[in-house]
Amino acid sequence: MTQEVDVFAHRGAQDNFVRSEEAFPAFIGGYRSGKTAGGVIKAWFYSMEYPGAIGVWTEPIAGMFAESLLPTLRKFFGEYEMHLWKEEGKGGPNHRIVFTNGCVWLLKAAETPERIVGFEAAWALMNEAASSDHGSQEEAYFRLVGRLSQQGFPHWLGIATTPIGQNWLWREWVNNPNAKKTGHVLFQGSSMENPTLEKSYLDTMEATYQKGTPLYRRYVLGEFAQLEGLVLPTFDPDKMIDPWPEDEVFLRRIAGVDFGAQSPTTIVETGITRSRRLWDREWLYQRECDDDTFVKACRDAQDSGVSLFVCDPSGKERIAWMRQQGIPAVKARSNRITDRVKAWSTPIGQGRYRLDSGSTFLIQEVMGLSWSRSKGRELETDKFDPNTPDHAFDAGAYSKMELEKMVLDWTPPEIGNW
Ligand SMILES: Nc1ncnc2c1ncn2[C@@H]1O[C@H](COP(=O)(O)OP(=O)(O)OP(=O)(O)O)[C@@H](O)[C@H]1O
Ligand SMILES: [Mg+2]
Repeated sequence: MTQEVDVFAHRGAQDNFVRSEEAFPAFIGGYRSGKTAGGVIKAWFYSMEYPGAIGVWTEPIAGMFAESLLPTLRKFFGEYEMHLWKEEGKGGPNHRIVFTNGCVWLLKAAETPERIVGFEAAWALMNEAASSDHGSQEEAYFRLVGRLSQQGFPHWLGIATTPIGQNWLWREWVNNPNAKKTGHVLFQGSSMENPTLEKSYLDTMEATYQKGTPLYRRYVLGEFAQLEGLVLPTFDPDKMIDPWPEDEVFLRRIAGVDFGAQSPTTIVETGITRSRRLWDREWLYQRECDDDTFVKACRDAQDSGVSLFVCDPSGKERIAWMRQQGIPAVKARSNRITDRVKAWSTPIGQGRYRLDSGSTFLIQEVMGLSWSRSKGRELETDKFDPNTPDHAFDAGAYSKMELEKMVLDWTPPEIGNW
């Protein structure tokens, strides 16, 4: 079964990764640099060359097969679906891609490594292996290594991922004196190397992450950059702090809420103008905040035109309680640290951010918030420095996440669905 296919890997990291015959090739790349495509192309050509070979494709969670592997497989090799390959067992424990030449790709979620047992395979590919949103994938990696025992086939375990900091992948592939000997080779790819990406996308990436910052090195260049220093190094107080514009007509005004106990409870308003400029100001920054103070701050904000309160998603009970008080409250779209940072860094990077000069706590946090320094040990996850407060920062992140959605592609958040 040989098929002429019209699919080529892009020159550079993707092509080198696809052609690599090393045992542990890792394509570490920026966003949209072609990592998943590289993995699919590599696994496809191997499967065509070695009928009967069993492979394992992992995603961090099972739900991601439908978003990542399958659309990519269909985009490149969709014309052979039902002739050469088909998807089986969707949504169940035996989800797989089956080929007419006897090859099988077992689809496994890395978040349940205990299920990576009881089969032998020739190869494995871990897509988004650095993601630790659902726990470190290191155990899944070690288990997969132990599965590569199918006789008569060359064995390999590939990685295709956006890097985070100096995590287990960095230890295995970079900070490891035996890496070369054991075939742990690294192919580092930048988003800029993918010729199919539109310039506007790359411009947004540059504006959001700003050349030279660790976030840019990580998410665009694909380096194992440890986050350090200020979280918002491009915030410029001279240009971005101004008195609240009383005469401005805002398209919408909403507020973000971060619940605290000993740490302060915070309410930060975000307004968006016709020219898509975002303005922030604080309504509350209060340690051990009692209910009356909180409700009064919400009412004051509502009286001035704030129409929605977007809250720390971990505070479900507080959100339900706010609704009982008649305050329109919803949970924020995401609590991921990178999403919170992006909510700030995007408008700042695009030069359309302003902060009210009377909001002293918020100003302090925005200018002081720093990444946690790794003290000798590597960090598996990104964290803010616990000595630099982030409560007003988080409230402002929640409101900005929702407001940008409201203006771009908004569906109203469900109130009453708890
Ligand atoms: N060799 C190729 N030929 C044609 N198109 C490609 C190739 N490689 C990547 N692309 C296209 O570039 C885009 C990004 O590729 P892909 O999804 O593989 O990147 P990624 O690095 O996995 O992205 P993400 O960071 O979102 O996971 C997709 O539209 C994909 O189809
Ligand atoms: Mg991908």
